[in-house]
Amino acid sequence: MKENYNVGIIGATGMVGQRFITLLADHPWYTIKALAASPRSAGKPYKDAVGAKWAMDEDIPASVADMTVMNATEDVEEIAKQVDFVFCAVDMKKDEIKALEERYAKAECPVVSNNSAHRHTPDVPMIIPEINPQHIEIIPAQRKRLGTERGFIAVKSNCSLQSYLPAMAVINMKYPIDKAIVTTYQAISGAGKTFETWPDMVDNLIPYIGGEEMKSEVEPNKVLGSIEGGEIVPSDEMHIECQTYRVPVSNGHTAAIFFSFKDGVKKPSVEEIEKMWADYKGVPQELGLPHAPKQFIHVYTEKDQPDQPQIKTAREIDGGMAISCGRLRESVQFNYKMVSMSHNTLRGAAGGAVLLAELLTAKGYMD
Ligand SMILES: NC(=O)c1ccc[n+]([C@@H]2O[C@H](COP(=O)([O-])OP(=O)(O)OC[C@H]3O[C@@H](n4cnc5c(N)ncnc54)[C@H](OP(=O)(O)O)[C@@H]3O)[C@@H](O)[C@H]2O)c1
Repeated sequence: MKENYNVGIIGATGMVGQRFITLLADHPWYTIKALAASPRSAGKPYKDAVGAKWAMDEDIPASVADMTVMNATEDVEEIAKQVDFVFCAVDMKKDEIKALEERYAKAECPVVSNNSAHRHTPDVPMIIPEINPQHIEIIPAQRKRLGTERGFIAVKSNCSLQSYLPAMAVINMKYPIDKAIVTTYQAISGAGKTFETWPDMVDNLIPYIGGEEMKSEVEPNKVLGSIEGGEIVPSDEMHIECQTYRVPVSNGHTAAIFFSFKDGVKKPSVEEIEKMWADYKGVPQELGLPHAPKQFIHVYTEKDQPDQPQIKTAREIDGGMAISCGRLRESVQFNYKMVSMSHNTLRGAAGGAVLLAELLTAKGYMD
């Protein structure tokens, strides 16, 4: 590992891009060297390009405020020369994002992506660093396909998954889950919005988020899949059915989950599951990565704190990188029911991507 890595942010003016800026401004390993966005922003100082769209609580860091925004699609080679890798979070058509991310990778600039475009490309790892870090081992196969020496694409999963899959995956490691019904209650920042830009969401609930139910049902299979013959083969073991709601919450996705184990699995007790969550440490915790939450899963017991996890008390735990679970109890029609939540733009978006980049850096993929 080098002492310092220069990084670029593609989509720097967007909601996720802004989060990247606040997370990376004082990062111990990374220095922001390039910011890029659409032709609308290119050529402007960052503070003018982002203007009133700046939605973070903290001010724009002085180190980037006057940096000239580059053109994400026209300056690929120039950006690739200036940085060791890029984070990418852009609002473009899926096929355009796919092509753009491959252009960066082929310019020998690794891409850590928040976008969904490459989530189902078989040799692109989709990683929750505590759950499936071993999937980074697919990268040599991807480099071979792309014809690159160091360029590759790695993605994080959809933000809604981070609210329920970690809790289920930890149980599933010892007690295989057969089926689950998941309902997500998703914050408006997940749509890149605030209450100012989306006033209709005040005192409202929208029982539909385009494409989200399919993502929430299908993406877990890839995260739980295995590497076979240069591809990540999705698992077909856990069957999830999902409904997604947009709710009047600024940040933080919550999921209500019913689940049952496979036939023949001896049902663990509530206490045993809670202990598995509380004791679980993934590779990020073992490596002490800068953005790894010390405690991955925070547990609220039904007995002592039945009204938790709440958005306002739980979303910021460990810098918004922890998952919080509670209300684990017996179900009548399934084995158990529970609630789980995470911060959608931290753990679920920029923070999850920064942690993924840290994992890749610590494992030598950014050198
Ligand atoms: N918000 C979340 O919680 C969340 C979570 C997970 C994943 N994501 C994904 O992350 C991506 C970005 O989401 P967001 O919420 O940050 O969106 P956003 O706030 O709308 O920002 C979009 C960014 O893309 C740039 N952009 C738009 N058109 C472009 C073009 N033709 N060429 C180059 N850059 C272009 C914008 O630049 P200008 O400012 O110059 O227009 C801006 O920087 C999306 O793929 C989204 O699905 C979001």
